[in-house]
Amino acid sequence: MSVYIIHGGNRVRGRVAVHGAKNSALPILAAAAVCGDSVIENCPRLTDISVAMEILGHLGCRARREGDAILTTQGGPGDCRIPDELMGAMRSSIVFLGGMVARHGCAELTLPGGCELGARPIDLHLFALSQMGADITEAGGRLYCSAPRGLHGARINLSFPSVGATENTIIAAATARGETVLTGAAREPEILDLIDFLRGCGASIDMALDGTIRVEGVERLHGVRHRVIPDRIAAGTYLCAAAMTGGELLAQDVVPGHISSCLSLLEGAGCRVETGPDWVRLTAPERLEAFGTVKTMPYPGFPTDMQSVMMAAATVARGTTLFVENIFESRYRHVPELRKLGASIVTEGRAAVVTGVERLTGASLVSTDLRGGAAVVLGALAAEGESVVAGLDHIDRGYDDLEGNLRRLGADIKRDG
Ligand code: EPZ
Repeated sequence: MSVYIIHGGNRVRGRVAVHGAKNSALPILAAAAVCGDSVIENCPRLTDISVAMEILGHLGCRARREGDAILTTQGGPGDCRIPDELMGAMRSSIVFLGGMVARHGCAELTLPGGCELGARPIDLHLFALSQMGADITEAGGRLYCSAPRGLHGARINLSFPSVGATENTIIAAATARGETVLTGAAREPEILDLIDFLRGCGASIDMALDGTIRVEGVERLHGVRHRVIPDRIAAGTYLCAAAMTGGELLAQDVVPGHISSCLSLLEGAGCRVETGPDWVRLTAPERLEAFGTVKTMPYPGFPTDMQSVMMAAATVARGTTLFVENIFESRYRHVPELRKLGASIVTEGRAAVVTGVERLTGASLVSTDLRGGAAVVLGALAAEGESVVAGLDHIDRGYDDLEGNLRRLGADIKRDG
């Protein structure tokens, strides 16, 4: 089992090119199951992406990598099932459901269990598909969906703007009979990227200013060459690493507008932030000021996926920061790890109060989940002395060459084992 060995204290400075967004590439690969042969560029090398490619193979769509692109080719009829071990390997494999029912008229899956972020129900995904004519039953931890006469358009209102449920609905609606009108949908940049991809394949999809999504189903979708948007969470992670170590970073291949909530917090904490069309330059003060109050919200609010790395930065800032996690019920598993470094954090329910300390000290740490793992690494980069971070499989799900990038930015980090 590999670990990171980190000797903290170096400033993070230099230039980093940010990889493509995992959370765009995954739904786009799921959509590729119902489209013609496609070339999807800027796909990061992550274990979650490899799992998605394997799932596509089971669904009758071959996926192979060429450099940073994934080429999808329609093959045989494929299967109605995703093997249990692939469902278990990645909770977001549920995003294949809409495409499977659209393509095969059926789907059989194990239910994606609750995971490290607390209960993660899929009721909204199932509600949307049932509105579109799918029969859904659950038995023995398995989910059976069928639509033998195909899916039809529907008016669907999501009671919460779930990212995955929005993606599943859009993918299913793209080839359903008639019009789907989706309200209460998520509007994360990754949703717009999925819509761009599907439009490029011939889908008829519009998003109104009020966020209503209209999809007029088409008979068939052709293929397209599409470039995945940059990963806003990876970008924010590198910026926080520089911000908390008194560093200076030029992050390239970034859409500054996608991370504006994060940039304004960093500016408010004393960082100088300059932006261009596809870059952000951050110059950190010697010591950050606290962030005030950070509440996670659906986009364009502050993203839950950045909460942990922002918290890592807050642990060494001057003053007190209040975090309120509004998206997931249990997303503070990094807190005990940051405390091992000497951070002062008190949690109660959805709130966490972080009082910045002058110094952190290296410790033996565990990466508890993907973004929590990144936060732990950032804490170790700022700490004096050596830290060892285990549980890298979580980090490998979402960061393409985190240690290589950090090393090139001056950090003393290596992977062992
Ligand atoms: C996506 O997960 C992302 N994953 C997550 O990123 C991200 O944290 C999340 O959106 C929120 O932004 C991918 O895109 C692959 P949701 P998703 O459905 O789609 C509740 C990362 O670190 N809910 O918007 O699963 C749910 O329990 C990952 O990259 C229901 O109640 O998120 C949660 O509290 C982790 N019923 C909230 O909505 C449902 O049917 C948001 O979930 C669906 C969701």
